[in-house]
Amino acid sequence: MAMHALGIDIGGTGIKAAPVDVATGKLLADRQKIDTPRPALPDAVAGVVKELSTSFGWSGPIGITFPGVVTDGVTRTAANLDPAWIGMDAGALFGKATGNPVRVLNDADAAGIAEMTFGAGLGERGTVLMLTLGTGIGSALFTGGLLVPNTEFGHIEVHGHDAETRASERAKELHDLSWGKWAGRVDEYLRHIEALLSPALIIVGGGVSKQSQKWVPRLTGIRARIVAAALLNDAGIVGAAMATSSAAAPDTSGATGTGH
Ligand code: BGC
Repeated sequence: MAMHALGIDIGGTGIKAAPVDVATGKLLADRQKIDTPRPALPDAVAGVVKELSTSFGWSGPIGITFPGVVTDGVTRTAANLDPAWIGMDAGALFGKATGNPVRVLNDADAAGIAEMTFGAGLGERGTVLMLTLGTGIGSALFTGGLLVPNTEFGHIEVHGHDAETRASERAKELHDLSWGKWAGRVDEYLRHIEALLSPALIIVGGGVSKQSQKWVPRLTGIRARIVAAALLNDAGIVGAAMATSSAAAPDTSGATGTGH
């Protein structure tokens, strides 16, 4: 089994990559980041993926995250990327672009896998929900350490609106919300989530997890323990790399994936 894999994390604003030792979760080189092309069409994104792979001189397995539902390498939704991705065989596209074996999975699922193995969820056996608050809100649900792939809890309705349009990091920036005001929205969102899932632990990730002391202590309406992600920005890259080995890869064969 290959112990090293290249992890690539496709986001709404940037595409980040680094080679990873999948046994330790450590990056083997400084990560590189290229802006997400606008529009984020499949060929343009595949071009960036190829550039990142080439810049590391990579030959070997590559794990790639995508900010939408992914079943068997096919991207099924693209709430924050171009709709041209819907129904695309991203596994084949990236495989062709890089000339390497690739595995594509949802970005929050990748971050969750990394956090459960090396970060804030280490050793947790109960229901754990990882949420990534970024351009959108991503979710990864675990019990007994096992992932239920492709959950989309960022799209729960709160006050008649898609939750990610109210409580993501982008919503904070877009509406120029103070930490207090935004934390109130996150708290309200988490109360909805808690009513549906009763998790023992909620791990909050994404760019805002770096400043967790400004808002996590304000989440007072939740019974579950809430902790900030431990791997910060690297969780997606590490989880993507881990998913290249079948032990960590979510099984999405036969999934329907007709999400948001
Ligand atoms: C997508 C999810 C994704 C999340 C974070 C949401 O809009 O539907 O699949 O995980 O954004 O990128």
